[in-house]
Amino acid sequence: MLSEKDFIANPTASIENGNFQWSAPSNIALVKYWGKKENQIPANSSISFTLNNCKTITKLAFVKHFDTSTSSVQAKKGFSFSLLFEGKPKEEFKPKIQKFFERIAIYCPYLKAYHFTIDTENTFPHSSGIASSASGMAALSMNIMSLEKALHPEMTDAYFYQKASFLARLGSGSACRSVKGSIVVWGNHTEIDDSSDLFGVEFPSKIHKNFNNYQDTILLVDKGEKQVSSTVGHDLMHNHPFAEQRFAQAHENLSALKTVLETGNLQEFMKIVESEALTLHAMMMTSMPYFILMKPNTLEIINRIWKFRTETKIPVCFTLDAGANVHVLYPENVRDPVLQFIKDELVGYCQNGQYICDAIGKGSQLIIDN
Ligand code: DP6
Repeated sequence: MLSEKDFIANPTASIENGNFQWSAPSNIALVKYWGKKENQIPANSSISFTLNNCKTITKLAFVKHFDTSTSSVQAKKGFSFSLLFEGKPKEEFKPKIQKFFERIAIYCPYLKAYHFTIDTENTFPHSSGIASSASGMAALSMNIMSLEKALHPEMTDAYFYQKASFLARLGSGSACRSVKGSIVVWGNHTEIDDSSDLFGVEFPSKIHKNFNNYQDTILLVDKGEKQVSSTVGHDLMHNHPFAEQRFAQAHENLSALKTVLETGNLQEFMKIVESEALTLHAMMMTSMPYFILMKPNTLEIINRIWKFRTETKIPVCFTLDAGANVHVLYPENVRDPVLQFIKDELVGYCQNGQYICDAIGKGSQLIIDN
């Protein structure tokens, strides 16, 4: 079992400059992460579907500007990087990256030796209300690991992906589930082999064919800025009256979902997933201060989905993240009738009629390596 100190790099090779480019996907949690301890340790284990189309593409160019082995003044100065969004400088994004570099500095001591140019873009519309922190932090972590691998040519693939997920977690918890695999577990769970609080692992059992190419159509109900940052939201689980029961429930739901993913029981799948979504929002409604992130149209959509499911017996369900958008989840073999239903009955509840068709994906991908 790896511990934090196993992730401290001690480079053996040296490299002057180069650039990498990686894409990393967004993910949607089925059992939700909501509540954390010091150093980005989750209060409970969570599991997510990796998405395929919603992703961040990040290029990292680097040039060595001094040797870290000399105790030069510059070394103490900190990190040197410029940040571009869609090719143009974006100062607003810099503090987040600065904070991320500070958090991972102990594990990546080579970072201060380089000047970085980070150029990033998303495949989904900016301000769609789709969080880009998971895909963004994962894409950056993949690039950093490509640099670390160049400094450490003997690194194994297993370590490469584990540490990428470990670093991504320090950027944003859910980002550690956007590194590798279609279904990813993060957080110690007694029944999931090798699961860890420190990084995400691929769901280890054979997944039933009902979940092959599972569909996620994201209905953009409210594209506004988040009312509550996830950091503030997680914090409200400290001293929350229902926290302990919630954390225990998440553990049980993950046990139950494990069986469901193995056996393909879609009725049970829908029950667990919808209950998790509503519980997440119930936690927000019962914290102090309390807040409601659903919008009237979120509820309209949920009711329409329930009515359609009762009438047609088609196994379609919803989940939510910390916002008003609705993820509509369904198997591939009912795609045509569900898309027709979405067009006929749900699009009217979306802001400017916007929705994004996605499906289960595989994780990050290397695009440029030199
Ligand atoms: C509701 O990963 O965004 O999407 O660790 O503070 O960056 P930080 O939080 P973040 O929280 C995601 C919460 C969630 C549920 C989930 O993805 O599991």
